[in-house]
Amino acid sequence: MSSLLVTGIGELVTNDPGLGDGSPLGLLTDAAMVVEAGRVAWVGAAAQAPAADTVHDAAGRAVIPGFVDSHSHLVFAGDRAAEFEARMAGRPYEAGGIRTTVAATRSATDEQLSANVGRLVAELRRQGTTTVEIKSGYGLTVADEARSLAVARQFSRETTFLGAHVVPPEHAEDPTAYVALVTGPMLEACAPHARWIDAFCERGAFDADQARAVLTAGMAVGLEPRLHANQLGPGPGVQLACELGAAAVDHCTFLSPADVDALASSDTVATLLPGVEFSTRQPYPDARALIDAGVTVALASDCNPGSSYTSSMPFCIALAVREMGMTVAEALWSATAGGARALKRTDVGRLAPGARAHLAVLAAPSYLHLAYRPGVPLVGEVLAD
Ligand code: NIG
Ligand code: FE
Repeated sequence: MSSLLVTGIGELVTNDPGLGDGSPLGLLTDAAMVVEAGRVAWVGAAAQAPAADTVHDAAGRAVIPGFVDSHSHLVFAGDRAAEFEARMAGRPYEAGGIRTTVAATRSATDEQLSANVGRLVAELRRQGTTTVEIKSGYGLTVADEARSLAVARQFSRETTFLGAHVVPPEHAEDPTAYVALVTGPMLEACAPHARWIDAFCERGAFDADQARAVLTAGMAVGLEPRLHANQLGPGPGVQLACELGAAAVDHCTFLSPADVDALASSDTVATLLPGVEFSTRQPYPDARALIDAGVTVALASDCNPGSSYTSSMPFCIALAVREMGMTVAEALWSATAGGARALKRTDVGRLAPGARAHLAVLAAPSYLHLAYRPGVPLVGEVLAD
């Protein structure tokens, strides 16, 4: 078995508080790491590094765990640049815009969808993302949701069935019949391709009873729950997610004190998606209040053609620091270890012995530069399997 020694690491983020400086980031300076069979075999001071078959010199640069982007909608066709332009001119964001992408996605071939996901996954990877969750939700028929998930599965094992994204136009007069389709034949066709079940619990999409019906139907066939909630206004979604033991509830832009309490006394991760607030001109969520209350916070891109067409986790980190009251250390933790928690993964989001050797070498001496130098392509080499 061949081994790789990465040495000369100016600053190594392990996300293991038992290592290095004892902070949540588990920071080591003048560090080295040994990788064997795709896993971290050793980390420590460069001066004490063991011999290895191959040696790579990081030349004083920072090394971080690959980003874990726990929320994206990569299976789609077309874009909505004109809608973005209108929003920047003052038009509000509405969930109904999703139907534009549904029409384009239904018209695309499997090959076109797959090529678009491949393009976006490569774009994510160049920016340091080594694990990405991918949702369906732009097909909204049995066949189009199933093929969306089959395409997503070619690129990630973290696939999410989001048939309950919005009610498609052909069911506009009878949303109850659409929920029955989602919880019946559509779930049956999609479950083999998915790990997670999700719903968009929001005015203009699905109410709490409908979202509960969708998540519990998914759970009954072995899918694990997560939820879109409290994006466009206050609502019952966050409390529903906590009640059902969802791994994560995503957006969390409009939270009441009771929502924060429910999150703090649950294991549900609050996933914040600042690319959405950037692209919709909504107020940013209050990450500081959540962290101070003891809630586990993840950051994700929500990459999709409507509300957040960015694949850049460094951009999300910079926004979270500038606009959401997070320290750079908290934002980096949330974009790596936090994302792993949101996906219930212990093998990614950290660089301690036993973890997958998914890492990014930054063209910078410290992770602080991720927020300090916004918009600059700081991610150099990316290692993943
Ligand atoms: O996470 N909130 C619902 N769904 C997506 C938006 C999708 C779209 O606008 O196309 C989101 O923001
Ligand atoms: Fe989303």
